[in-house]
Amino acid sequence: MNYKLTIKIVKDAAEFNKTCAEKIKEQIAKNPQSVLGLATGGTPVGVYKELVSMHKAGAVDFGGIKTFNLDEYYPIEKGNSQSYYTYMGENLFDHVNINKANTNIPSGEAKDPQAECDAYEEKITKAGGIDYQILGIGSNGHIGFNEPDDFFPDRTHFVDLNQKTIEDNARYFDSIDDVPKKAITMGIKTIMGAKKILLMATGAGKAGIIKEALFGNITPKVPASILQLHSDVTVVLDEAAAAEIKSSISNV
Ligand code: GLP
Repeated sequence: MNYKLTIKIVKDAAEFNKTCAEKIKEQIAKNPQSVLGLATGGTPVGVYKELVSMHKAGAVDFGGIKTFNLDEYYPIEKGNSQSYYTYMGENLFDHVNINKANTNIPSGEAKDPQAECDAYEEKITKAGGIDYQILGIGSNGHIGFNEPDDFFPDRTHFVDLNQKTIEDNARYFDSIDDVPKKAITMGIKTIMGAKKILLMATGAGKAGIIKEALFGNITPKVPASILQLHSDVTVVLDEAAAAEIKSSISNV
């Protein structure tokens, strides 16, 4: 099998944020009506900051952009400081000229989460699918909240968070007991349907899982490994996250 992933290793956080933001900027310049799939977590915070600076300098116009976030905790109120709804406002939407009506995040307040999943998937389909999907990766290999399992979940679904994910994300909450135990997430098929994907990872804590995801077996035990089958994925890593793949890369 020809190796399809494009891997770029950068030296530090500043170069990481700039490189990723430039790629998103290029997508928006190429298609000002792009449908973007957006990620949360610590990794994209600096990337969004860079995009906000680019926008303030007049270099990026979000006026025609539509967005779909990957996931949201469940249950969680939009106003909770840890909701992805709050995160997106604070980190991006409140600082750029995006039409809020064109931004979509699964609702952690939905009474019927399954109906919310179905409606979300339908909205993505109606928008023509995702043009450009931004992804982080969990230390257990999850993308969105597609947790390691015996199968690849396909469409937007309601999921029990893995213990590792709850532990990882506890750093954002007052205590681990406050981390919601469930989430709504786009599925693997939803994500793989994106025309282009940008996978981002930083820090030594991601080095092992990056090796497994990019060069290991394609398995639902490492959900991000499915990206090896997509035809247009760019992976941007800092040196620490790339530490275990240097030798594999020279063989690609
Ligand atoms: C979170 C999100 C993912 C994110 C991942 C990594 O729980 N659901 O979309 O990519 O975990 O987060 P971080 O960037 O903070 O390491």
